[in-house]
Amino acid sequence: MSPRLLRAVSRGWLAVLGLLTVAVFVLVLIPAKDAVVPTRFKYGLVFDAGSTHTSLYIYRWPADKENGTGIVSQVEACSVSGPGISSYADNPAGAGASLKPCLDRAMKIVPAEQQRETPTYLGATAGMRLLRMENSTKAEQVFAEVSKAIGEYPVDFRGARILTGSEEGSFGWITVNYLLETLVKFSFAERWEHPQDTEVLGALDLGGASTQITFQPGVPVEDRNTSVFFRLYGTNYSLYSHSYLCYGQSQALKMLLAALHQASSSAQISHPCYPQGYQENITVAELYDSPCAFSGFYHTLHFLNLTGGQSLSSVNATIAQICSSSWEQLQLLFPTASRTQLRDACTASSYSLTLLLQGYKFSHTTWPSIHFVQQVANTDVGWTLGYMLNLTNMIPSEPPAAVTGLPSCSWIAATVLLAIMLILTFCLLAATCCQRNSSGYEHL
Ligand SMILES: *[C@@H]1O[C@H](CO)[C@@H](O)[C@H](O)[C@H]1NC(C)=O
Ligand SMILES: *[C@@H]1O[C@H](CO)[C@@H](O)[C@H](O)[C@H]1NC(C)=O
Ligand SMILES: *[C@@H]1O[C@H](CO)[C@@H](O)[C@H](O)[C@H]1NC(C)=O
Ligand SMILES: *[C@@H]1O[C@H](CO)[C@@H](O)[C@H](O)[C@H]1NC(C)=O
Ligand SMILES: *[C@@H]1O[C@H](CO)[C@@H](O)[C@H](O)[C@H]1NC(C)=O
Ligand SMILES: *[C@@H]1O[C@H](CO)[C@@H](O)[C@H](O)[C@H]1NC(C)=O
Repeated sequence: MSPRLLRAVSRGWLAVLGLLTVAVFVLVLIPAKDAVVPTRFKYGLVFDAGSTHTSLYIYRWPADKENGTGIVSQVEACSVSGPGISSYADNPAGAGASLKPCLDRAMKIVPAEQQRETPTYLGATAGMRLLRMENSTKAEQVFAEVSKAIGEYPVDFRGARILTGSEEGSFGWITVNYLLETLVKFSFAERWEHPQDTEVLGALDLGGASTQITFQPGVPVEDRNTSVFFRLYGTNYSLYSHSYLCYGQSQALKMLLAALHQASSSAQISHPCYPQGYQENITVAELYDSPCAFSGFYHTLHFLNLTGGQSLSSVNATIAQICSSSWEQLQLLFPTASRTQLRDACTASSYSLTLLLQGYKFSHTTWPSIHFVQQVANTDVGWTLGYMLNLTNMIPSEPPAAVTGLPSCSWIAATVLLAIMLILTFCLLAATCCQRNSSGYEHL
C-alpha cells in the first residue's frame, strides 16, 4: 500500500469514527431521562385495643416526607377475633395469643427486609383506662402479655400504652381532617400542598366506653388537660379535645341499668363508671367547625339508614318508630340483622341522638352540618391513622435516589456502536504500526 493510499484510507476511517462518536452521543444524551426510581415505602403497625375489640392497622408512607410529616395510607386492617384486651383481665395470656393471627398477616405484607425497622405500637383506650382504675395490677399483666406476644415478632416494637382521652380525640381529629384533605392536598401542580381555603372539621367519636369531642377553637384553650398541640406538614394546630369516660355506648347502657338497680335496692356496685360518672355534666363550648361523627355514632344511626343527611325531625320520628315496634315487627324490618343488633337498635340509636342533642348541644339548625362517616377513601376513621401520621414526624426521612436512565433500545444501539468504534480504532492503530515498521511512515 502506498503511503498516499494509506493516508486516504486513514482519513476515511477517522471520519467514520467521528460520525459514530456523534451517533453515540445522540443515542445516549437525547433520550436520557431522570429515571423514576420506585418509591421506597416505610411501614408502621398500630394496634387499636378498644374496649370491645382490637384491630391491627398496617400503614405505609413514601420514605421522603412533606415538611417533615409522611403521606400515610392504610394498606390493610386486620380484625382480631374475640373481645377487647381488657376482657382478658383474668386470663392475660389469652390477650397476647389473640393478637397473633393479625401479626402473622402483617408479616406477609411488610417486606421481610423491612420488618426489623417497622415501628409497631399498641394503643389502648377507655376499656383499659377503666381496668386500670379498677385494678392496676391486672392492667399491667395484660400489657405485659401483649408486649410479650408482639415482642416475638421481628418488628421494632415501641411499646403498649393507654392513650389519654384527649390524645384519642385529637388523633381522631387528625384522621378525619387528613382523609378529607383539609391538612394536605395533592394540587394541580402535582405537588403536596397546604390547602389554602378549606376549613378544618371537628370530630365526634363514640366508642364502647368513652366519647370524644375535638375541634380547633378560635381562642387559646386555657385548660392544659384538654388542649393539644400538633405540628403537621409544616403547619401548627392547637386543638380542644375532651373525652368523657363512661359515656361510651356500652358503658352508658350499663350505667342506666346500674342506676335502675341502685334505685330499686341499696346494693353498692363498685365500678369507676358509677354512680359518680353518671352525674357528670357534659357541657361543650360552641362548635366552631362543622363536625364529622364516626365510629359508634355512625354505626348506630347507619343501621337505621339515618346517616344520609336526613333532617332532625325525620331522625327523631324513625327512632321513635323503632322504639315502639314489637320484636316481630323489627325482625320483618331488618331480616338480615343479628339478634344483638335488633335488641340494641332502639337504645343505641336513642343514646347517640341524646348525646348529640343534650350532651353536645346540636339543634335543628346545626344538625344538618354533621357528617356521618365510617370510611373515607377506603380508610377506616379512628385514632390510629392520626397517631401514625404524628409519629412519622419522628421517623427520619430518606431523600429519593437521583438516577438518570436510558430506554433499553438506545442503550443497546449505543453499546453496539461503541464496540464498532473500538474495532475500527484497533484496525487503524494496527495499520499505522505496520506501515511505520515497514516504511518508517511519518505521522498523518
Ligand atoms: C388485683 O388483681 C390482682 C391479680 O389478679 C389480685 O391479686 C389483687 O387482689 C387485685 N386487687 C384488687 C384491689 O382487687
Ligand atoms: C410546606 O411548607 C410550605 C411553606 O410553609 C408550604 O407552602 C407548603 O404548602 C407546605 N407543604 C405541605 C405539603 O403542606
Ligand atoms: C387535669 O387532670 C389532672 C389529672 O388527670 C387533674 O388532677 C386536674 O384536676 C385536671 N385539671 C383540670 C383543670 O381539669
Ligand atoms: C409552630 O410551632 C413551632 C414549635 O413547634 C414554633 O417554633 C413555630 O414558630 C410555630 N409556627 C407558627 C407559625 O406559629
Ligand atoms: C352543668 O351544665 C349547665 C348548662 O347545661 C351549666 O350551667 C352548669 O354550670 C353545669 N354544672 C357544672 C357543675 O358544671
Ligand atoms: C406528636 O408527635 C410528636 C413528635 O413529633 C410528639 O412529641 C408529640 O407528643 C405527639 N403528640 C401527641 C399528642 O402525642
